[in-house]
Amino acid sequence: MKPHDPKPSGPEASAQPPVPRGLPLLGNLLDWVRDPFAASTRWAEEHGDIVEMRTPGPSAYLLFEPTLVRELLVTRAGAFRKSALTRGMSCVIGDSVVTRSGQAWVARRRLLAPALRKAGLRRYTSVIVDHAHAYAQRWASGRAFDLHAQMLDFMFDVLMDVLTSAPLGPARAQLRRGFDVFWDDFGSYEFMLLSMLFDGEPYRRITTRRRRRQLELIANFDRVIGELAAQARAAPDQSLLSDLVRSWDGQDQLGEQQLREDVTTLILAAQETTAMGLTMALDLLMRHRDVVDRLAAELDAVLGDRAPDIDDLPNLPLLEAVVHESLRLIPPIWGVAREALEPTQIGNLRVAAGTQVVASAWVIQRSTRWWGPDALDFRPERWLDQGQRTRFAWFPFGAGPHLCIGMRFALIEMSLALACWVRRLRFVALGPSPALTSVVTTRPTHPVQVRATAC
Ligand code: HEM
Repeated sequence: MKPHDPKPSGPEASAQPPVPRGLPLLGNLLDWVRDPFAASTRWAEEHGDIVEMRTPGPSAYLLFEPTLVRELLVTRAGAFRKSALTRGMSCVIGDSVVTRSGQAWVARRRLLAPALRKAGLRRYTSVIVDHAHAYAQRWASGRAFDLHAQMLDFMFDVLMDVLTSAPLGPARAQLRRGFDVFWDDFGSYEFMLLSMLFDGEPYRRITTRRRRRQLELIANFDRVIGELAAQARAAPDQSLLSDLVRSWDGQDQLGEQQLREDVTTLILAAQETTAMGLTMALDLLMRHRDVVDRLAAELDAVLGDRAPDIDDLPNLPLLEAVVHESLRLIPPIWGVAREALEPTQIGNLRVAAGTQVVASAWVIQRSTRWWGPDALDFRPERWLDQGQRTRFAWFPFGAGPHLCIGMRFALIEMSLALACWVRRLRFVALGPSPALTSVVTTRPTHPVQVRATAC
């Protein structure tokens, strides 16, 4: 058996999942905190399709097999709600579409969905392309910069201009700083432990410096988004906020507070994930010149001298393959987590109410079992082969009713931005592939230093 090749388990799989060897009291927490990616990959190799990860708080079942992913996220979705960790985010973003499940979630999802339908996304093309060109121009000076930090800036700029056409003034920088702080908090193990142990409650009550800072930022978001929503009502336009306000105002039950929560949520959910997707796509491309050359040739053949447009995307199969392949190798969300609402079953495993269950995109998307002996290679061409692919072996956007609502937006944005950058610049990595860490999302542990020159 090759590395990263989880042990197959057949119908005789145990009703009690194996528990990887850990420490007294801490269980497997230390291994996880040190390197969640290496730990989960090793556990899959050693123990098979499901393991129980023990921590001082609740334990979690980790799933490493696609049919189990389907059960968790699709066929048995009704028996689960969002995980304790995800629900813990409600201390900051409120009870939004990301943290909710069941009926309360259905209403919120319905309100957001129309604004993110494919047809509506066309109007954002020029925002994405104009910002991509502006960033390319800035980078072309040849000075070294932190790629991940720039991708977060790029995403923020795009999202703000998609959200509103009103000038933001100083509020822009305040919001930007606020989202950074939130992500730093969500990325902390303090947040993870408090959410997992106590369902986020202490976070609401504690008055540490960090929490006070969060409350100030939340108050500021409320104010800014409230003002922007008022402007969108007074002078509706093509912006995302105008769409959202229109949906909200047709509802009796949902007020301004819910609008604030869902707008904050959308920006949070979109910025960090897509920025990470772009960072890793560029990092992989920098290390695969042959792919860059083929991609540049495809772009030249289809686009000639003009800028890419949303209608070009179906004619750029290699570009799509690059995006899919990088999201396969480095999924910005390493696993999709749920909590059982009632006693249920996954595979042959009995799952008690309250159990946390996580489908590991990291392990499954990199396994030789579903991706062949070159599973760990960056080979976009695998997406151009006609061969049958295993369903649910690629799920960077989740699956089932909670499938990422911004999936199309993210794919379009990543594709258009990469198309602009690959045509104009050659990036050079100034260090090895970034080391990664993860609590809610996957992130580089250090700045990703690169240099770009015009081509
Ligand atoms: C590469 C970029 C992205 C990745 C990898 C990603 C990944 C995911 C995943 C895995 C989920 C499922 C979570 C679960 O089932 O618990 C999700 C949900 C969600 N995503 Fe994304 N996402 C991305 C971009 C975006 C964008 C651009 C937006 C908004 C414009 C967005 C908004 C959301 C929202 C609101 C949910 C919650 C959906 C629900 O529970 O109904 N995401 N995303």
